[in-house]
Amino acid sequence: MTNAESKVRECVAQELSKLKPAEGGAYGPEQLAQALRRVTTQCGPDLAEVARLATAQDGECSAAPHFCRYALLAYQDARVSAWLLGWPEGNPGTEIHDHGDSHAAVAVISGTVRETLYAEHGTQTVRDLPAGSIVRIPKEYIHKFEDERVGSEGLSLHLYSPPLARMGYWGYRPDGTFGRAGGWDAAAESKAA
Ligand SMILES: [Fe+2]
Repeated sequence: MTNAESKVRECVAQELSKLKPAEGGAYGPEQLAQALRRVTTQCGPDLAEVARLATAQDGECSAAPHFCRYALLAYQDARVSAWLLGWPEGNPGTEIHDHGDSHAAVAVISGTVRETLYAEHGTQTVRDLPAGSIVRIPKEYIHKFEDERVGSEGLSLHLYSPPLARMGYWGYRPDGTFGRAGGWDAAAESKAA
């Protein structure tokens, strides 16, 4: 881990540990967005340094696009987890996914990140999120993230509450209908490991 990453983890942990206890053990999207506002203000210089380093690691993206996404687990406790995710040029973005039982909020630290939201029947809404954006993502949302355009190397900070433990993957079937196509479960993965 780089020095900049260690400083980000320290700062994010310090800010998130100040959160008031969560009702029912988890935070809603608005509380997560408020926490992100504080984290991005307090940890701004450290986040900017990580953004610079993360987006400089672009050498292997064209050869192995699925593996060039930058990801750092910045914090986790019983109530909330925080991931820093990078979207280098040439990255194909995430799969279409939900977040299981977790609400989320996302702050864009650098670049412009494109989010596509999917209704249950597959209708898409696209929103481009420039640096400084903070968006709330209720647990009902199905979406995907990707870099928005050539030359825009994004970095974003994602909070999940409760900590992200399950995800569903969605897609279009051969007959054109939209539905859940698989999933990821942290508990099953750790048992298998
Ligand atoms: Fe997501």
